[in-house]
Amino acid sequence: MIYSQSNSEIIFSNNASDEIKNIIKSSKGKVFILADDNTFRHCYPNLMASLTENPPIFCLTPGEQHKHIDSVVKVWEFLNSNGADRKSVLINLGGGVICDLGGFAASTFKRGIDFVQVPTTLLSQVDASVGGKTGINLNSYKNEIGCFSFPKKVIIDTNFLKTLDFENMLSGYAEMIKHAFISGEDYYNELKKLEFTEGKIDYNSLLEMVKHSIKIKENVVLADPMESGLRKILNFGHTVGHAFESFYMGTPNEISHGKAVAYGMAIELYLSHKKAGFAKDKLTESIDYLNKIYGKLKFQKSDYERLVELMKHDKKNEAASINFTFIQDFGKPVFDQTAVKEEIIEGFEFYCGF
Ligand SMILES: NC(=O)c1ccc[n+]([C@@H]2O[C@H](COP(=O)([O-])OP(=O)(O)OC[C@H]3O[C@@H](n4cnc5c(N)ncnc54)[C@H](O)[C@@H]3O)[C@@H](O)[C@H]2O)c1
Ligand SMILES: [Zn+2]
Repeated sequence: MIYSQSNSEIIFSNNASDEIKNIIKSSKGKVFILADDNTFRHCYPNLMASLTENPPIFCLTPGEQHKHIDSVVKVWEFLNSNGADRKSVLINLGGGVICDLGGFAASTFKRGIDFVQVPTTLLSQVDASVGGKTGINLNSYKNEIGCFSFPKKVIIDTNFLKTLDFENMLSGYAEMIKHAFISGEDYYNELKKLEFTEGKIDYNSLLEMVKHSIKIKENVVLADPMESGLRKILNFGHTVGHAFESFYMGTPNEISHGKAVAYGMAIELYLSHKKAGFAKDKLTESIDYLNKIYGKLKFQKSDYERLVELMKHDKKNEAASINFTFIQDFGKPVFDQTAVKEEIIEGFEFYCGF
């Protein structure tokens, strides 16, 4: 497989509209926009603020269930019926669903046209905007179909986040805390200074933190583009996190991906302490911080067995061993680690009694 290294330009801006204006001016082909109903309502007016022309726009119904091949076909048909050619550019205005799906639709239309990502959720700004992964789900298999393909540009404007609900803010913030655990205590302390409370977020300070998180992910991805090793450090919190996410999926207690990762990190910090030497005082301080932001997840002894089973069935695991990334300290992640059922249960007990 030929892997094209990232040549995306990431633009941090307080005025995404001006950036789009420049893209339209310099584009050799026709420009198109993909949004969903929410980003059309909340983000599109700001995006168009300094524009004199309106590029053709297509809106999808919001939601993970629409990250589906049927939506891709609709986007291809929209491009095709509006005269898109190989020089055309697709601007994806939305969260991870629109960016993943739009990136995939653009990468496959006429064997690939340029696309620009304008991520409008915190999760898509700090996570989905870096790494070149595009794709869709296949039935219940997440991101089963897709390709590595890098956008021409990524425009990061935290002003879009002002209309995002707090649950989605919390979801993205968990990935930022993860970046701090794997990259170093300085960033962790910076994040802690940010008041992450509903209605009190300073979007300018947040932009600086988002920049930092993107840099961390970018460095990891550049060091391991084929996902053969180091990139696994980005999975910190995700082994237990995915189990929590699946456990509550479809129930009234459903939790977002990021929230599940936050709870997963708490358990994996315990395992990091137990198995990789993460200091006890840092463990208690970190779990305190996670609890302050995310509250405590309430689950029962009788849930332990199923949670461990869910981890065993995670695609990253061979046979009975469960794979983890641990941290020896802030900024000292170790991947390809394992823990057995008894140790994981000890982690649950520690968390529940914390
Ligand atoms: N490509 C990658 O590397 C990568 C990394 C992480 C996650 N992802 C993918 O990202 C997806 C999740 O992304 P997400 O959390 O952004 O979900 P999402 O795209 O579904 O957005 C969440 C909700 O917020 C709404 N919304 C978006 N921006 C808004 C705004 N500014 N104001 C108000 N509402 C807004 C959306 O319409 C949606 O209802 C998953 O499909 C996941 O697989 C991809
Ligand atoms: Zn994640």
